[in-house]
Amino acid sequence: MKINHLGIATNSISDVLSFWEGLGLENVHTETVDDQKVRVAMLPIGESRVELLEPTSDDSPISKFLAKRGGGIHHIAVEVEDIEASLAALKAKGTRLIDETPRVGAEGCLVAFVHPAATGGVLLELVQTLS
Ligand code: CO
Repeated sequence: MKINHLGIATNSISDVLSFWEGLGLENVHTETVDDQKVRVAMLPIGESRVELLEPTSDDSPISKFLAKRGGGIHHIAVEVEDIEASLAALKAKGTRLIDETPRVGAEGCLVAFVHPAATGGVLLELVQTLS
């Protein structure tokens, strides 16, 4: 398994992008995910990526996170081969899930979130890539 990306919440992608670019990363993909009311920027780092997230509306989950925590690591995304199978296995163990079924995330990937109460305090995103 591998970390697909680290999700970092910010009020403004453009405010923090210069830091990450200065570190040597490159923003290769920007996209608005209407379903989650976020705009994302993807910066590859090794086999993983930094995902910068900014809210596109006041009722975005990211707006709530920023109001409560003022930015920072919002979630960790782990890549799985078969997201339906992973969700079924977690459900069978009684794991607290936010998404019982996958939805379409950035770049058309299938994603589902696991509640922080189940993981040790961090929001976990399962990702099945299209490749
Ligand atoms: Co993510």
